[in-house]
Amino acid sequence: MKALVYNGPGKKAVEDRPKPELQAAGDAIVKIVKTTICGTDLHILKGDVATCTPGRILGHEGAGVIESVGAGVTAFRPGDRVLISCISSCGKCEYCRRGMYSHCTTGGWILGNEIDGTQAEYVRIPHADTSLYLIPEGADEEALVMLSDILPTGFECGVLNGKVAPGSTVAIVGAGPVGLAVLLTAQFYSPAEIIMIDLDDNRLEAARRFGATRTINSGEGRAAETVKALTGGQGVDAAIEAVGLPATFQLCQDIVAPGGVIANVGVHGKPVSLHMETLWPANIAITTRLVDTVSTPMLLKTVQAKKIDPKLLITHRFRLDRILEAYETFGHAASTGALKMIIEA
Ligand SMILES: NC(=O)c1ccc[n+]([C@@H]2O[C@H](COP(=O)([O-])OP(=O)(O)OC[C@H]3O[C@@H](n4cnc5c(N)ncnc54)[C@H](O)[C@@H]3O)[C@@H](O)[C@H]2O)c1
Ligand SMILES: [Zn+2]
Ligand SMILES: [Zn+2]
Repeated sequence: MKALVYNGPGKKAVEDRPKPELQAAGDAIVKIVKTTICGTDLHILKGDVATCTPGRILGHEGAGVIESVGAGVTAFRPGDRVLISCISSCGKCEYCRRGMYSHCTTGGWILGNEIDGTQAEYVRIPHADTSLYLIPEGADEEALVMLSDILPTGFECGVLNGKVAPGSTVAIVGAGPVGLAVLLTAQFYSPAEIIMIDLDDNRLEAARRFGATRTINSGEGRAAETVKALTGGQGVDAAIEAVGLPATFQLCQDIVAPGGVIANVGVHGKPVSLHMETLWPANIAITTRLVDTVSTPMLLKTVQAKKIDPKLLITHRFRLDRILEAYETFGHAASTGALKMIIEA
């Protein structure tokens, strides 16, 4: 089968790989119908994710059809159409019982990281019963691919951790697909202001279409002053970091209001400076989170009920054999206008 393989920092290739086989009773083999590329895949290719070693098939998002299941799988049968969660969870270990699937002792974020992922014709999904979701009859598969990772990530790590509330002020630093997923799901709570900050005017334009009340291009280095000016000198109640760089985490420290929350979503590959000397007297909370995907069933209902439309995030479509072009397009979003790619296997 064809697969996109990470061959070390800066190196990737489409290779022929053997079709995966069932290894444990809880496994399912899923034939991929649609997958996509995440900002985290770009972090892996930069060498930011040490657990992902050369030779790994990338991809932790997608939808497909069950091809076969192990003897222990009871919730799915061959032929079922399923949404694949980026987080694999056993449902039984201490962390899973606490709803912290990201730290499942035999799962977590392993797909396209510690085990082969979804940017291929087939994938092996461990703990299939608790890591896959049946796609409802008539549902739009492309929209649901946005539920594998970016919508739960934006909602759990950004909106819930950021304590977004009716009337609150929110700034989202980073208008990539994840930042835009924060923007879409923050609107469940009717915040008064959602200020979107990025370097890319195309993405800021998309943010305005998706409900941002203000946008700021931080390229001129005056984003913090502008946020202060827009919020009566106070800053924002929730400063949500959706990039993963020291500079953007710094910006969040500069714009958070007293009593506010800095909710970090970005994957960081380098240390950041923590300004405790200014944060401590301002009652600031800082949160981090690897997405748990506990909100996926709820988000699925909001998509089915047309309360949010994640399909708005899809800008390009490619066949799997042209996935290298998809990476080029996604990696040069400023010139291509790319948000989410749909890769059809
Ligand atoms: N916590 C989690 O579980 C989790 C899950 C998925 C993704 N992520 C992370 O979320 C982040 C965003 O993902 P994405 O897919 O949207 O990535 P992306 O690379 O498409 O988007 C990042 C955005 O940040 C902007 N940006 C870059 N430098 C900037 C700067 N100095 N100032 C302002 N904006 C800047 C870019 O223009 C881009 O629009 C990544 O770090 C990704 O790894 C985290
Ligand atoms: Zn991801
Ligand atoms: Zn577990």
